[in-house]
Amino acid sequence: MWPVSVAIVKANSTRGEGRTVGIVGGGQLARMMAEAAPELDIATVVLAETPNESATGVADRVIVGEATNLEDLFALAAGCDVITFDHEQVDLGHIRALLDAGHRVQPGLATLEVATNKVTMRERFAAAGLPVPAFTVVAADAAPRAVADAVAAMVDQVGLPLVIKPERGGYDGKGVFVEDTLDDAVARVTALSKLGRVLVEAHVDLAHELAVIVARSGAGEIAVYPPVETAQMDGMCREVIVPGSIDPVVADTAAAIARRVADLIDSAGVLAVEFFVDPSGDLTICEVAARPHNSGHWTIEGALTSQFANHLLGVLSQPLGSVDLTAANTVMVNVVGADDGRDPEALLTSLERSPTVVPHLYGKAARPGRKLGHVTATGDDAVAVRDLAWATTRALGGAMPSGGSLNAEEE
Ligand SMILES: Nc1ncnc2c1ncn2[C@@H]1O[C@H](COP(=O)(O)OP(=O)(O)O)[C@@H](O)[C@H]1O
Ligand SMILES: [Mg+2]
Repeated sequence: MWPVSVAIVKANSTRGEGRTVGIVGGGQLARMMAEAAPELDIATVVLAETPNESATGVADRVIVGEATNLEDLFALAAGCDVITFDHEQVDLGHIRALLDAGHRVQPGLATLEVATNKVTMRERFAAAGLPVPAFTVVAADAAPRAVADAVAAMVDQVGLPLVIKPERGGYDGKGVFVEDTLDDAVARVTALSKLGRVLVEAHVDLAHELAVIVARSGAGEIAVYPPVETAQMDGMCREVIVPGSIDPVVADTAAAIARRVADLIDSAGVLAVEFFVDPSGDLTICEVAARPHNSGHWTIEGALTSQFANHLLGVLSQPLGSVDLTAANTVMVNVVGADDGRDPEALLTSLERSPTVVPHLYGKAARPGRKLGHVTATGDDAVAVRDLAWATTRALGGAMPSGGSLNAEEE
């Protein structure tokens, strides 16, 4: 289904036809989109909060402003063929205003309504018969009695702990609360319901997690990258293994579900679908992100067309590039700021270079716990590739999980 291609030259064309993509946000996802753009004959403009963000040194043009400010969004839209996103912190009313004024926005409202709201996401997927963990929704500003009853009913149904999430605003595990007691769960839901609706769900017993990147062009063409194993630490993605330990039947099921999700919400560009896999191999959807995603960074080296290139092509409704693999095994490890504050940029020059491992640093100031970059290793030997990715992360001064890699104790 996902052949390893013998092609030496990466997918490379001028299919962007000189068009300009405007990106809301100036983070590392915008940076990697901007890096992918020139060889596709695409220009990029980013709307960044400051002149010194990850993408600002790479994009063709930078507009300094706020993603939540309508005037700034209009400034971005002027001169761009389509607007797309580096993050989800956008006001859907503003998107509607851009559309009403005749600007193109991809992914569009139907996708963003689902992808930017964890409650809408769960409800829409459940209604479509897609597998999701058992959940209930507590209304914004719910009365104390209603909160207590809803939480108690969930504990009766699925037990403790419960996982509690505000409908909007979470990322990298900020906005995921695991509560072990009924009282703590009630207190958490009560506090969060002051801000909006609250998702209360079963804590899934995780054998592992996986993710599927689906590229879809505005014209409806779909390409599905192979499902990959992902490992989160404290809610943040740390490692992605291709193909990892995913059962082939589970992989095919996940790919089929991800394709259904992309069609259901009419995605354009890249959609990441995160899944939970329980010990019996049952899949449930964790969440989706309607943009390039950390679980797809490996595609820069590991696939013929990167997720960033296919995102740009998809939002421009251009034909997509091949998602064939370039290697039998690929491992991506995030370079996360270590507690000693060491700056990976300073260690880059002394890094021993190898054609099979590529460091990507995002140009961000080093801070403990901050995603500063990632490394991707490729090759034939799964164990060697993984060791190389972690050794390179260590050489760059990135934070190391105890034991050297996330699942070290299993090896
Ligand atoms: N219901 C759950 N059961 C078990 N683990 C969960 C559950 N929900 C979230 N998690 C863990 O928290 C991580 C982040 O949750 P997610 O909903 O994807 O939030 P974020 O937007 O921060 O990525 C997941 O990848 C998973 O490791
Ligand atoms: Mg997530």
